[in-house]
Amino acid sequence: MRQKVVIGISPGKPTFFCSAPCFLQLKFLLLPVIKNPYDSPMCGIVAYIGKRPAVPLLVEGLRRLEYRGYDSAGLSTLGNGRLHTRKRVGRVDALATLIREQPIDGSIGISHTRWATHGAPSDANSHPHADASGKITVVHNGVIENYQALKDALVKEGHSFASDTDTEVLAHLIGKHYAEGKLKDERGLLDAARAALRQVVGTYGIAALSSDCPGVIVGARRGSPLVVGIGQGEHFLSSDVNAIVAHTRDVVYLNDYDLVAVRADDFRVERLDEGEARVEISKVAHDAGAAEKGDFPHYMLKEIFEQPQTIQNAMRGRFNRNESSAALGGLNLTSTELRNVDRIIMTACGTSWHAALVGEYLIEEIARVPCEVEYASEFRYRNPPIDKNTLLFAITQSGETADTLAALREAKRKGHKALGICNVVGSTIARESDGGVYLHAGPEVGVASTKAFTAQVTVLALIALLLGRLRHLSAMQGSRFIQELESIPDKITRILKQHDAIREIAAKYKDARDFLFLGRQCNYPVALEGALKLKEISYIHAEGYPAAEMKHGPIALVDEKTPSVFICPQDAIYEKTMSNLEEVRARKGRVIAIATEGDTAISRKADDVIHVPKTIDALYPLLTNIPLQLLAYHIAVQLGRDVDKPRNLAKSVTVE
Ligand code: G6P
Repeated sequence: MRQKVVIGISPGKPTFFCSAPCFLQLKFLLLPVIKNPYDSPMCGIVAYIGKRPAVPLLVEGLRRLEYRGYDSAGLSTLGNGRLHTRKRVGRVDALATLIREQPIDGSIGISHTRWATHGAPSDANSHPHADASGKITVVHNGVIENYQALKDALVKEGHSFASDTDTEVLAHLIGKHYAEGKLKDERGLLDAARAALRQVVGTYGIAALSSDCPGVIVGARRGSPLVVGIGQGEHFLSSDVNAIVAHTRDVVYLNDYDLVAVRADDFRVERLDEGEARVEISKVAHDAGAAEKGDFPHYMLKEIFEQPQTIQNAMRGRFNRNESSAALGGLNLTSTELRNVDRIIMTACGTSWHAALVGEYLIEEIARVPCEVEYASEFRYRNPPIDKNTLLFAITQSGETADTLAALREAKRKGHKALGICNVVGSTIARESDGGVYLHAGPEVGVASTKAFTAQVTVLALIALLLGRLRHLSAMQGSRFIQELESIPDKITRILKQHDAIREIAAKYKDARDFLFLGRQCNYPVALEGALKLKEISYIHAEGYPAAEMKHGPIALVDEKTPSVFICPQDAIYEKTMSNLEEVRARKGRVIAIATEGDTAISRKADDVIHVPKTIDALYPLLTNIPLQLLAYHIAVQLGRDVDKPRNLAKSVTVE
C-alpha cells in the first residue's frame, strides 16, 4: 500500500491550543536554519478549481492577500488544454491591468502575490514559474535553501532558467521528475511533487498546475501556511483564509509535510513520507465582511475604531465573577500548575513585543510573578536558562511569524510548556502551542497592527488577574480590576470622539523630521509602540524612550523642530514625568501630551493635549495608545503615504 489517505472527514472544531504534543515536532526541529533567503518567503497564494471563471476569483483573492506582500503578482490558468500565465511587477492592480490587456480564461488556476527579500522585484522573478517543458507552473511561499545546488545540477542536465528565483528551480525539479516518471496523470504529478520536495531543504507552501492534468491542483506545505477551502463543486487552496472566506467558511488547515490534490469535487491529502494524513474540517468564525474596509478610507482606521468591540471580544466569557478572577480554560493548566509558575518568559516580534512589555508590567504588578520579555529572533538563538516552573508565552497576531514560531518550538523542544496568545485561528503557532488564548479581534488587515495590540494587552491583563488571584490579590482587588477592565471599551469610544482634533494636531506636526515618544512605567512600551506606528507608516524617524532616560542621549535631538510626545496620565509617577516634560520645554522642544481628563495644569505646559479618561495605572496603556495610533494615522495620510501597505513591510513575516 502506498499511503493512507483521508478525504474530508467529518467537521470538527479548530485544533487550536490542543494539549496533545505535535507528532511532527521532531521533524520541524531537524529543519536546517534558513539563511540568505533568496525569493519570496512572505507571499500570498490563492488557487481555484471549479466551474466558474478562475481569473476574477484569483484576482479578488490576491487583493485580499495583498497585505502579505505587494512587490509583484501573477497567475496561471488552464484553458483549452493550455497553460496561460500573466505576471507583473507591482501591485495586484498592475496584474489586473495586464489581464485586461491580454485576457485569459479557464476555471482552474493558481496565483501569487510576492514580498521579495533578495533580488529586486521584476516581471521575470514574479510567480508563477514554469518547468522546462512549459507544461507545469508553480507558485511558492518560502525559501528553498539548497536551491543553488539543485540549480547547478539541473543546469548540468541542460536546464536553463529565466529568473533568479528558487521557485523556478522547484518548478524544474517537479517537471524533471514528472518527465522521468511513467505516469502522465494526476498520480504522476503528485509523485513528481513528492520526489522534488524530498530533495528540498527549506520551507514552502506551493500550488502547482499541469496542462497534462486539467482536473487537479497540487499543493504542499512545510513551514508556510496552506489551507484548502471546500465549496460546492469547487475548491480553493490558499495561504490565508481571508482570501477565500467570501466563498466558503469550511476549510482544512494543512499540516507540515502534507501533500494535497485538490479537484473540483473533492480533495485528497497525503503525507510526504507516505504516512497517515490527518484531515479536520474547520469552520472559519468570521465572514468576508470582517475583512472589508466598509465606509472607512483605510483598514487601519477601521481597525482603530473597532477597538471598543475587539477589547470586549477579548474579555467575553473570560471572567469568573464568583471568584473575582479570570477564566482561561484554553491555557490547559490546573490551578496548581498555575500557582507553581515562578517565572514567565514572553516572546514576540514587532508590536506584539510591545504588548508583551506592557504584559510584563501587568503581570509583575498584579500577580507579582517575575517576567522577562524576549525578542523571538534573539530568544531562538540564545540559550537562556529555563527551569521547570517557567512558563513561555508566544505572543503573535498572525500566528505565523517565523521567529516567534521558532522560539515556541525551541521552548517545547526543551520540554517546557509553551502557550500562545494569538489572533489568527488555526495558524501554525495556535496549532503548535500547548494551550493559549485567542484574541478574537477578527482579521487585522492593516500592516501596522492596532487592534491586535490592545487585544493582546487585554488578554495579558486577564492572565495577570488569574495569576494574581491565585496568589496575593484579594477578591476586592480582583473585582475592582474586572470593573476597570470592563469600563475600558467605553473609555476608548470617548477617546475616538477626539478624532477630528487629533487630525488637526497631526497637521501641525506632519513636517517634523524626527519625533520623540516618551513615557514611564507601563507607558514606556506605549511610547515604543507610538514611535513604531509613526515610523512604519509615515517614514518619519521616531524614537520611543523611557521619559527619564531621555536625558542620557535623546535629549540632544530636542530643539524647536523635534516634537516630543509625552504619555503622562495622572498615575503614580505623574509628577516625575512632568519634570521630564519641563526638561524638554526648557530646550524649546514642542510637546504633545497624552494626559488624563481633568488635568488642566498640563495645558499650560504642553503645546497640544489629547485627553484620555481616568483608569487604574496598570490599564492606562489600553487608553494612551489610542491617540498615538490616530496621530500616526493622520500624519501618514496627510503625507500621502500608503497607510495600509507601507513600503518594505509585510503583515506576516514568515522569514527569520
Ligand atoms: C510584522 C508586522 C507587525 C507585527 C509583527 C509581528 O512586522 O508588520 O505589525 O507586529 O510582524 O507579527 P505577529 O503576527 O507575530 O504579531
